[in-house]
Parts: sequence; C-alpha cells; structure tokens
Amino acid sequence: MELMDAIRARRSIRKYLPDPVAEEDIEYILEAARLAPSWANTQCWHFIVVTDAKVKKEIADQGMPWCAKAPVVIVACADSEKPGAKGDIPNYLVDIGITMEHLILAATDRGLGTCWIGGFNEGPVKETLGVPDNLRVVAMTTVGYPNQEPNPRPRKSLEEIVSYDRYGQSKR
Ligand SMILES: Cc1cc2nc3c(=O)[nH]c(=O)nc-3n(C[C@H](O)[C@H](O)[C@H](O)COP(=O)(O)O)c2cc1C
Repeated sequence: MELMDAIRARRSIRKYLPDPVAEEDIEYILEAARLAPSWANTQCWHFIVVTDAKVKKEIADQGMPWCAKAPVVIVACADSEKPGAKGDIPNYLVDIGITMEHLILAATDRGLGTCWIGGFNEGPVKETLGVPDNLRVVAMTTVGYPNQEPNPRPRKSLEEIVSYDRYGQSKR
C-alpha cells in the first residue's frame, strides 16, 4: 500500500473478527516500530505483545472491555530517563508517539485494524504485565482484522491548523 493510502485508510477499529493475526504480520508491524526515529537514537521503547486471553481480559477489565475481543494488544513502554532533556519536552512521549504510528500504519498496510488506547491507569496495567519500575506504560493498541468499517472522523482544514512565518498568519 502506498504511504498516503495507508494514512487515508486507517481508522480506529473497536470491533474485531476472531481470526488470529499471523506471527509474520506481528513481526512486520514490530519491525516498522523498531525502525522509528528517536531522541539521540536512544530507542527508549519496549513492546509487550499480549495474546493470552487471560491477560487480555485483565487489561480489558480495567475499563476497556472491547479490548478482550481483539486478538492482540500491543503495549508500548518507555524508559522515561533515557532520552535526554535538552529543553523541556518529554521526548520519551514523542518517541513513543512516532514508533506507535509506524506500527499502526504498518498494520493498516497489512489489512489490520488498530485502536490507540490512552485511556488507562498505568499502575494496574504495569502490575498486570509485570512492567519494571523504571519503565512507563505510555500507550497501547489493539490489533486484529476489522469487523466494522467506520466512516472517517472529521478533521480540521489546513487553513485552521497551519500558519506561515508567524502564528496566525495566512499564506500570502
Ligand atoms: C493518544 C491517543 C489516545 C487515544 N485513546 C483512546 C482510548 O483510550 N480509547 C479509544 O476508544 N480511542 C482512543 N483513541 C482513538 C481516538 O479516539 C481516535 O484516533 C480519534 O477519535 C480519531 O478517529 P480515527 O482514529 O478513526 O481517525 C486515542 C487516540 C490517540 C491518538
């Protein structure tokens, strides 16, 4: 799939077919994540691929019931101390955002649906997955074959979100 086609085709998918995801496809999307750029190439990330129904249910029971029906949940952790802080942007969050979007677009390329999940409480997720203290759980996504075809959600126009040379200045 062309990159822009994948960007256009991606939707947040919250209903999945029960079909398992091939090992090769999981490796493909993890490889896309692995190749993401990061602050000073520190690659502060660690991914936990959850397919065990019991573990998925434990995560789902923490306020994300539809997660249990996804064949795979991928949890992205980060060593928040690893990327340096030149300036005051928490770069580990940026790095996880980039790597997750690599993963999500690669999944779209393979016909897989995903849904980024940020609405969780980190403590219980860490406990369920045995994540060490030095890592933060930043994001997770479900992965599986879509059992829905959502319409595209609206997006702001370029005019609303872009300025030229100075904030608020339109193109001359
Ligand atoms: C950082 C982030 C956190 C999100 N957290 C959740 C979530 O907890 N639960 C959920 O159902 N969707 C979540 N989403 C999905 C968004 O609701 C979705 O991307 C947005 O509504 C646009 O729809 P689309 O992805 O289909 O284009 C999250 C997306 C992002 C980028």
